[in-house]
Amino acid sequence: MNWIIEQDNEDKKIQEEIIKQGVLPKHIAVIMDGNGRWAIERGLSRTEGHQEGIESVRDIVKASSQLGIKYLTLYAFSLENWKRPIAEVGILMKLLEHYLRQELDELHKNNVRLLTIGKSSSLPKVIQKLLHESFETTKDNDGLTLTLALSYSGRWDIVRAVQMIALDVRRGRVSPEDITEELFSTYLQTEKMPYPDLLIRTSGEMRLSNFLLWEMAYGEIYITDKFWPEFRRNDLYDSILNYMHRERRYGRTSAQIASQGEVNQNDSYIQRVINAFKSK
Ligand code: IPE
Ligand code: IPE
Ligand code: MG
Repeated sequence: MNWIIEQDNEDKKIQEEIIKQGVLPKHIAVIMDGNGRWAIERGLSRTEGHQEGIESVRDIVKASSQLGIKYLTLYAFSLENWKRPIAEVGILMKLLEHYLRQELDELHKNNVRLLTIGKSSSLPKVIQKLLHESFETTKDNDGLTLTLALSYSGRWDIVRAVQMIALDVRRGRVSPEDITEELFSTYLQTEKMPYPDLLIRTSGEMRLSNFLLWEMAYGEIYITDKFWPEFRRNDLYDSILNYMHRERRYGRTSAQIASQGEVNQNDSYIQRVINAFKSK
């Protein structure tokens, strides 16, 4: 199914209106929370909540791609989520496997590049294999980059980066004085993506839950009370419009921002890419 052809006219018009309103976020990250509560409130099982959550994933991925968002990062399973009851973890892994099998073709046809961040070695082998196939198939796509955060922890990624820098120092490739924020960020799994402009969290919780800790230093946060299974494209549009009307100051004053125009937090992204190429 071609997402541009199938898009209905009314939705197309809404998207055109949004684009006129301001600068789209380059990178949207989402903490997809509240599947369980959504289900319990309706007398359903948590599994049914997770299943309905996948419908939201489908809609949000499609809407982001149609709108021209370049990066969408979805927090699907945290490193701490392994501590949930084994039956729930098993169901989540099965649903993930099913999603990957079912969606790859359509994602690829719609020019989506699929990536993952997190401790993928702890995922079931069958999922590791599917992920690998998905990266290979979609690696040259230049539409939306969809990153699934799986078995992910921001602290884990930071510690992993520190370990790799320490190894490079020991090998004489990096000297301690050269360790800057730019260099550090090239050791993170998110090295090739811009920092998130907008982080959405559903179901009203006001915390990061170990998601993109380094990357979110200046990202805008949008929290909605809606549970993830009821969060659909119109809610995404609300969050983007809300984002567009914010002033991102990065420590400066409003007057400075007014006279200098938009400050690009991703200036350093270019530096990171240059550094990344230098070190490879
Ligand atoms: C989000 O919904 C999905 C995952 C964390 C995998 P939850 O399962 O956390 O739902 P609540 O927060 O218990 O309602
Ligand atoms: C965060 O949700 C992780 C994901 C959405 C995958 P949690 O439900 O695990 O977060 P906490 O435990 O409420 O902080
Ligand atoms: Mg939760």
